[in-house]
Amino acid sequence: MRWIVTCAWPYINAVPHLGTLVQLVSADVYARCMRKLGEEVLFVSGSDEHGTPIEVEALKRGISPKDLTDRMHRYFCKLIDLFGISFDNYTRTESPVHIKFVQDFYLKVQKNGYIFVEESEQLFCPEDEMFLPDRFVEGTCPYCGYEKTTGDQCEKCGRLLTPTDLINPRCAICGSSPKLKKTKHWYFDLPRFEGHLRSYIEKHEALPQNAKSMSLSMIDEGLRSRAVTRDNRWGIPAPFPGSEGKTIYVWMEAVLGYVSAVKEYFERRGCPEKFDLFWKDPDTRSVYFIGKDNIPFHTIILPALLMASQEGYVLPYNVSSTEFLNYEGDKFSKRFRRGIWMDEALLLLEADYWRYYIISTRPENKDANFTWEDFEAKINNELNDVLGNFVHRVMSFLASRYNGIVPNADLDEESSDFLERCLEVAKRSISYIERFMLKEALKEAMSIAREGNRFFNEREPWRDVKVNRSRSDTTLIASTQAVKIISHVIEPFLPFTAEKLWRMLNLEGDPHSTTFDDMRIMLRSGHTIGYVKPLFEKVSAEELKTRLERIRREIKSEFLLEETS
Ligand code: MF3
Ligand code: ZN
Repeated sequence: MRWIVTCAWPYINAVPHLGTLVQLVSADVYARCMRKLGEEVLFVSGSDEHGTPIEVEALKRGISPKDLTDRMHRYFCKLIDLFGISFDNYTRTESPVHIKFVQDFYLKVQKNGYIFVEESEQLFCPEDEMFLPDRFVEGTCPYCGYEKTTGDQCEKCGRLLTPTDLINPRCAICGSSPKLKKTKHWYFDLPRFEGHLRSYIEKHEALPQNAKSMSLSMIDEGLRSRAVTRDNRWGIPAPFPGSEGKTIYVWMEAVLGYVSAVKEYFERRGCPEKFDLFWKDPDTRSVYFIGKDNIPFHTIILPALLMASQEGYVLPYNVSSTEFLNYEGDKFSKRFRRGIWMDEALLLLEADYWRYYIISTRPENKDANFTWEDFEAKINNELNDVLGNFVHRVMSFLASRYNGIVPNADLDEESSDFLERCLEVAKRSISYIERFMLKEALKEAMSIAREGNRFFNEREPWRDVKVNRSRSDTTLIASTQAVKIISHVIEPFLPFTAEKLWRMLNLEGDPHSTTFDDMRIMLRSGHTIGYVKPLFEKVSAEELKTRLERIRREIKSEFLLEETS
């Protein structure tokens, strides 16, 4: 089986907060796990650079959108790297391969008869002399009455809007009231795919229930044609004859990035023919880690576009959507500086602390809530007291009493039962990942260390070592082997910790490319371990909050990591 693993392409109008990390880390866990199962994996995503939020932000700063996204993209690549997100290709929607791919794609869809042109009246700002799509308009929501909503989606009630729906519309740039003006747009004939989409979604067993029912109810309500073009300057130039000066709507091109990123990857490696193998062979499965607000774009728009191209692309295999992550009971807010941003997080603690927290609170069925209290508890009571503690007890015992050398002894019944149980739990953890239940999977992985602590306590090797050496030998062999099992099972979640364990155990190669099968292979007697050092440190919520405030006071640049490194 071949896998394309992806996550939603982040908008890069600002440094992302921890909420974005949920999808990045989830996809990374899945990709790493599949690699360690020996599968062929391509893990891709990229920066979503177009769209009105970027244009508005650039206008506010008085720079060009391209200057803004160049800078942001570079910074974002660095953050991704520091968080250990193991992309094979993290690209961007300004990539020439993507732009050409999207333009050719739409010409093909047009040739296949799924594009039509229509004239309509749209909001136009006479001051700025431009049409005002999406977030270029502010006004009152006709559904809930919220007065500061924008023209694409109501921030308050979540309903999808078009600019002409707004009551009292204002131009987001200059504040003046727009006029109606005629313009022509190119539309994608989505309703013609209702039948196909319905049967694809109904038959698709892997799709989770929430994605399924939401998509089916949208189809039941009747799909509407979607405008492909926009009257913006920033974006991919629309390729249709007569569409000069227009660009393609950001959502209608960003979703195609999943395809173009794979194409770009293989072109760069000098084997473009492998693209077809990944996107057109029925043995390929593509999986998407996204937030719930992105569901229709992945279960309706993307599959319909792939169908409309008639290129034989494989349809999405699974869409794993998460609910939202809140901060101390409220939404993350840039304006009120409420939340934690990805770069701030790294200045406080290494990536694995955050990765652990993110997966252990992953909002799989309902919104999750970050609180500093909970963060402190999870890091101290689980990461430190369970995982760190077990590893440290075993390894330092081996170092001090055995000179760091794995002894030679046979396993007794109790210790081989223990190892069997560890392997069973490891298998369960992996199979949870395969079923997209990452939170459960991490819990299982941690329970190996929990079992390990229990085993070590019951066996009391510190007594045996003087009076019953062969029994303590056995205890140490089994416990060290359990540490090896942990170094494998924990790798998808905590790749940096897995590396530390690998070096502590003094194993060959690295934990990322060695497959899970290796965890069954016993450490040889006579094998010498590497160094021993605590894996984690305890944290104090109060102290972290104080440090965060200080960072915010002292570092003025918005690119925190550039100023400190
Ligand atoms: N940028 C969008 C968001 O943050 C997600 C785009 S996913 C895409 O909501 F790849 F489909 F574009
Ligand atoms: Zn509303």
